Amino acid sequence: MEKKQLAGMAIDRIEKVFGKHNGYRRAHARGVIYEAVFTATGNAAHLQAGETRAAVRFSHSSPNPVWTDAMSPVKGMAVQFQLPGGRLTNIVGVNAPVFFAKTPETFTEMLGLAKSLKNGRLPLRTLVKLLVKYPDSRAAIKVLRKMHAPASFVKGRYYAMHAFYFIDHKGNRTPVKYEWEPDAGVAALSPKDAKAMEFGHFEQELESRLKKGPAGFRLNIIIGEPGDPTDDPTKEWPKERRKIVAGHLEIRGSQLQDNGILFDPTAMVPGIACSEDRILAFRSLAYSISHARRTEGT
Ligand code: HEM
Repeated sequence: MEKKQLAGMAIDRIEKVFGKHNGYRRAHARGVIYEAVFTATGNAAHLQAGETRAAVRFSHSSPNPVWTDAMSPVKGMAVQFQLPGGRLTNIVGVNAPVFFAKTPETFTEMLGLAKSLKNGRLPLRTLVKLLVKYPDSRAAIKVLRKMHAPASFVKGRYYAMHAFYFIDHKGNRTPVKYEWEPDAGVAALSPKDAKAMEFGHFEQELESRLKKGPAGFRLNIIIGEPGDPTDDPTKEWPKERRKIVAGHLEIRGSQLQDNGILFDPTAMVPGIACSEDRILAFRSLAYSISHARRTEGT
């Protein structure tokens, strides 16, 4: 099947499993956007040293905007860097280090099996079916089932998961991954505390926190070594990999309107390139289909 057709099928299936919510993103439907400033160290050459304007969107992962905050323990952090000359690049991550599908085909098939999610959880029979049929997904499904929501949008560690390549002026490629480390420290909610929270707690907590002062994240670059998989978002790289600091994001108190902003994780600028990870390329197609539907109001 042609890739774009498969991406359309994946979005149709998301709508079937989670319901169709006109005007909303087909995943990470509910979220808030703030103005931010990124101060780069210069360690990532495509993010030149100095200050860059940015926008950050925190989100609950569910495609259903009326699911409670607790039903989406996976939260999203999407950052758009507004570079000089009008160039844009994005880092789009979640507070989990791995994804549950290795390929677009597996992802779409899994959605076909899921059919419907009760209270945000798969029925046990479906879960067992998935674990048997997709061995590559086992580790990630285990991690995701044990996930706890962060105590605040700004107390999660967010992972962009996929590998990317830094490209130097001689054309040498270094595989890298990104993670955002919160200044406020990593803290998770117990399932009981998460359940007790009112709808919209995360958004309110962030708004009142930012009224008192900015919140921040450090951007770490993890340097891959030969043999580290660059095509598989279900696999983490070994913990001992070297990390360098690419810069710091400061989130300011001004909330921005969502004027149809699209955080495409494949939007690259000179000095950085996508890896061969097929899920990464597929996301670009799926996000543009979702973007077209939601901005048309369907
Ligand atoms: C098969 C793989 C995936 C598919 C089909 C998919 C699908 C989608 C869709 C349709 C949207 C809404 C896009 C829009 O309307 O702008 C979305 C948003 C999002 N996805 Fe994914 N996704 C995938 C994998 C991932 C992975 C691996 C991550 C984490 C690294 C991720 C993190 C996010 C985040 C944070 C958002 C919200 C972006 C925003 O705030 O605008 N997704 N996804």
